[in-house]
Amino acid sequence: MNMVWNGNAQGVRMCEVGLRDGLQVEAAFVPTAEKIALCNELSRAGMSKIEVTAFVSPQAIPALRDAEVVLREIERVPGVVYTALVPNVRGAERAIDARADEMNLVMSASESHNLANLRMLREQSFRALSEVAALARQAGVAVNVSLSCSFGCPIEGDVADAEVLGWCARFVDELGAAGVTLCDTTGMAWPGQVHALTRAFLQRWPGTGLTLHFHNTRGMGLANVLAGIDAGARRFDASIGGIGGCPYAPGATGNVCSEEIVHALDLMGYDTGVDLARVIDAARRLPALIGHDIPSQVVKAGRRLDLHAPPDDFAATHERALAREQARTR
Ligand code: COA
Ligand code: ZN
Repeated sequence: MNMVWNGNAQGVRMCEVGLRDGLQVEAAFVPTAEKIALCNELSRAGMSKIEVTAFVSPQAIPALRDAEVVLREIERVPGVVYTALVPNVRGAERAIDARADEMNLVMSASESHNLANLRMLREQSFRALSEVAALARQAGVAVNVSLSCSFGCPIEGDVADAEVLGWCARFVDELGAAGVTLCDTTGMAWPGQVHALTRAFLQRWPGTGLTLHFHNTRGMGLANVLAGIDAGARRFDASIGGIGGCPYAPGATGNVCSEEIVHALDLMGYDTGVDLARVIDAARRLPALIGHDIPSQVVKAGRRLDLHAPPDDFAATHERALAREQARTR
């Protein structure tokens, strides 16, 4: 692996998933109007894509039971893709009705996680998602597939690259999906693995939009993003504040944090098109909405060059230090 620590200015597209992956695990129900306001703020901040909500069973994920209203009432900023998670045909019908630009189909690369999360065998999910893809084609809605546990399963352990690529082949070659997101649902990915799987995907499907989706569960999130970039990936999911996690994976924690990733990539010379200050402002509103602190370190510490006033006794300390120096050299 040959890390490009100082990239030439190159485009990296950010997909904001805080409103879906982020809010789905929160106990508090964030009011619909607040979700819409947050989405509008993120649109204006220059996100390439926003995963606005999920058309899943409201019993399974009550936090997103207002999916229709949110998707219908947000501002649609031209150029931003508004996507929504869809697990089955019922979800697809709802997403089409609410005018999603894209459906983000979801299943797991691991049988056990698919059963825990979606209550189906992978083959059953694939059959349902084949119907969803046919509906999407008729309705002229784009299809992306998010493959959970592509870098490991919390129940089964390692998932072989060949297994992951096998499911990618079925979605891309059989169903014609325009994009695939390889998801590290529970933060098991590590940089060498990310590099190898990304390279293998891009060599096989250079024309298919590849997105990488990491969780920072074991502190490897940013390292994995950089490994992905080094291997040629240019689209990343991230969530404001670093909130998020799969409700069916014990110990799961937040996505890589949008403002941390944008902050790092800006410094490294990558052009994300995202207005960092606006994202930080939006993230600062989260604790009041979800009722607890957020993982974001950039929100706590500020940006690298957000400087601090010196201590109150700074002038006196300076004088004393200068006087000591003069006495020494006299
Ligand atoms: N939208 C709204 N309601 C839905 C739905 C959808 N997409 N899919 C199923 N339902 C409803 C059914 O109408 C049924 O309701 P009822 O009990 O009032 O009749 C109930 O949910 C159960 O439906 P069923 O078809 O038996 O599905 P299931 O119980 O096997 O659940 C899932 C399957 C996948 C739909 C459900 O578990 C789910 O939505 N899970 C959420 C997964 C998720 O978001 N995980 C985190 C992100 S990866
Ligand atoms: Zn996730």
